[in-house]
Amino acid sequence: ARADKRSRLLEINREAAKFYFAVLRGKDGATAMNYFRDRQLTEETMQKWGLGYTGSHSNALYRYLKGKGYEDRDLVDSGLIAISERRGAHDKFWNRAMFPIMDAGGKVIAFGGRVMGEGEPKYLNSPETMIFNKSRTLFGLFLAKRTRRPQMILCEGYMDVISMHQNGFDNTVASLGTALTEGHAQMLKRYTRQVYLSYDSDPAGIRAALRAIPLLKDAGISCKIINMQPCKDPDEFMKKLGPDAYEERIKEAENSFMFTIRMLERDYQMDDPESNTEFFRQVALRISRFPEEIERGNYIQAVADRYHRSAESIRQLVVHMASQEG
Ligand code: UTP
Ligand code: MN
Ligand code: MN
Ligand code: MN
Ligand code: MN
Repeated sequence: ARADKRSRLLEINREAAKFYFAVLRGKDGATAMNYFRDRQLTEETMQKWGLGYTGSHSNALYRYLKGKGYEDRDLVDSGLIAISERRGAHDKFWNRAMFPIMDAGGKVIAFGGRVMGEGEPKYLNSPETMIFNKSRTLFGLFLAKRTRRPQMILCEGYMDVISMHQNGFDNTVASLGTALTEGHAQMLKRYTRQVYLSYDSDPAGIRAALRAIPLLKDAGISCKIINMQPCKDPDEFMKKLGPDAYEERIKEAENSFMFTIRMLERDYQMDDPESNTEFFRQVALRISRFPEEIERGNYIQAVADRYHRSAESIRQLVVHMASQEG
């Protein structure tokens, strides 16, 4: 019965994707079509990602799916329909540009819907359902894994992934706003051992990167950080600077540990001897936690070079911090 339920929810999501796709191309679809075009998506891209539009009625999908014979119970469980006393049965997504979310096998399991223009929330996503586990879903994975490239590029959002693919970086996936989880790392590990982290350049993106780095490392994935400046995210980067510039950024991608301490440095006054010392203690503490002597040695040297210190002074501090930690 559980398997039947799952397959009904998958069917409903697939039908919904077909519906939104058709609405985008119908007489009601012009605004959304213009929205996607304004964002420089090609017709080919729209087809490839199955982009759609809800229409501007608040229960059009509900009526369509009822017409196909689905039960209210299943429609509610699909995450696409809500039933309330006040409003009766209605669509959860209304007047939004729609992005189908696929699982690793290419089946539609959920949607993200964007307001066209300003408005809150900017993106509304399907709730978790029997078929949609957010912390294991990576947007774009179905297409990215087929490239069989040794590396993957990890970014934040729908438009980042789509825009990157359109520009030839078809090994790009996103964790969709939610912080990267161990589940995501495990999913990634099935297909790659090296990730380029390409999060937004704003404070939220930096915080998210700092949290993602140890998660990836713990899963056995090495990661490098792509510098997005002066752009705010990969989508904007593609538009303003283009794929060749991004290719350069990949070549210049920063070691994740060196990125971490560069961000840490911002919390210290490097021209104050006490604060400066504390910064190096924190760096040394982190180095001391690397299990292998060779790795510790490599980072001692890298830190010494970057901050114009002797490797010996860093090495002594690492030994000291290790003994303090017990
Ligand atoms: P961003 O705020 O960086 O948006 O969120 P974006 O992807 O650059 O959006 P555009 O370019 O303005 O269209 C990154 C991701 O976080 C999730 C979405 O998956 C989004 O793509 N998010 C963001 C939400 O789920 N809800 C929100 O309200 C905002
Ligand atoms: Mn962001
Ligand atoms: Mn963004
Ligand atoms: Mn964006
Ligand atoms: Mn220098």
